[in-house]
Amino acid sequence: MLKSIFAGLLVFAASQVAAQEEPAPYYDIQSPPFYLTLKSLNTTLDGLYLTACHEGAAIESLCLSQPFTTNFTYAHFYYNTSSSENSSTSGLLTWILPAVGLNVSSSLRLNYNNASNVALPLLFPGDEGAALVNFTAENQLGINLVQDDTLPLPNDFQHTIFRWFICITRYGYLYQTLNWVLGNQSPQSPTCESVAVYRVWA
Ligand SMILES: *[C@@H]1O[C@H](CO)[C@@H](O)[C@H](O)[C@H]1NC(C)=O
Ligand SMILES: *[C@@H]1O[C@H](CO)[C@@H](O)[C@H](O)[C@H]1NC(C)=O
Ligand SMILES: *[C@@H]1O[C@H](CO)[C@@H](O)[C@H](O)[C@H]1NC(C)=O
Ligand SMILES: *[C@@H]1O[C@H](CO)[C@@H](O)[C@H](O)[C@H]1NC(C)=O
Ligand SMILES: *[C@@H]1O[C@H](CO)[C@@H](O)[C@H](O)[C@H]1NC(C)=O
Ligand SMILES: *[C@@H]1O[C@H](CO)[C@@H](O)[C@H](O)[C@H]1NC(C)=O
Ligand SMILES: *[C@@H]1O[C@H](CO)[C@@H](O)[C@H](O)[C@H]1NC(C)=O
Repeated sequence: MLKSIFAGLLVFAASQVAAQEEPAPYYDIQSPPFYLTLKSLNTTLDGLYLTACHEGAAIESLCLSQPFTTNFTYAHFYYNTSSSENSSTSGLLTWILPAVGLNVSSSLRLNYNNASNVALPLLFPGDEGAALVNFTAENQLGINLVQDDTLPLPNDFQHTIFRWFICITRYGYLYQTLNWVLGNQSPQSPTCESVAVYRVWA
């Protein structure tokens, strides 16, 4: 009993030290807040917004918001770029997790299922394993290819690709979430509907 209390205190002390000595994040320049909205040939999805929705402890996916409220914490996203990179065309999609007594910057990463070509974007605290995303001049969310493996390699063919779909997924809960499809093909889930994602400054 005493031993476990002591161990608990040690963990608590360690977490306090970690909190104080947290190094500055690499993706340290945060954009103003924006909303994420969908464009789709599917009229049910066209014009809807995405919000962070609970999938587990401090883990969120991006799911459909209907109706949309502009005062909603869960609908504000940011784009973090790095002051160490002068001409980078990619950064992190971030969101601020409101926790008890603190705000935790979280970033989007892709959760891969090896048995599927549908990858689920999830928001996790910090920047570990974060996906590098891009916004075009038209404010469309994509991912930059730095070499194109559909062409003979090596090549340095850079362009932005868009493979977003709204699908029914179940990581923690059954939701209609935003997904990224791997490769130049159709999603294997029959629930997926093609969408384009745009940022709208808040
Ligand atoms: C994004 O940038 C802000 C401002 O520097 C920083 O506080 C935050 O930790 C960054 N988020 C991530 C996930 O790196
Ligand atoms: C539009 O997407 C919804 C899923 O959000 C789906 O139920 C519906 O069948 C789709 N409509 C068409 C015409 O494909
Ligand atoms: C947020 O907006 C909704 C819809 O306009 C409104 O009903 C609600 O009272 C607002 N909440 C806050 C905290 O302002
Ligand atoms: C960024 O650009 C400045 C001025 O052109 C240069 O001095 C600096 O070395 C560059 N930094 C990086 C990380 O490329
Ligand atoms: C996104 O990538 C394109 C093409 O590489 C580039 O022109 C654009 O500046 C990038 N956007 C951002 C916000 O870095
Ligand atoms: C968290 O962020 C919200 C919105 O910017 C702010 O109102 C609140 O005071 C922040 N909380 C803490 C503990 O910093
Ligand atoms: C499946 O993919 C994950 C990455 O999401 C990887 O860590 C894991 O080792 C893979 N598992 C198998 C059985 O290949």
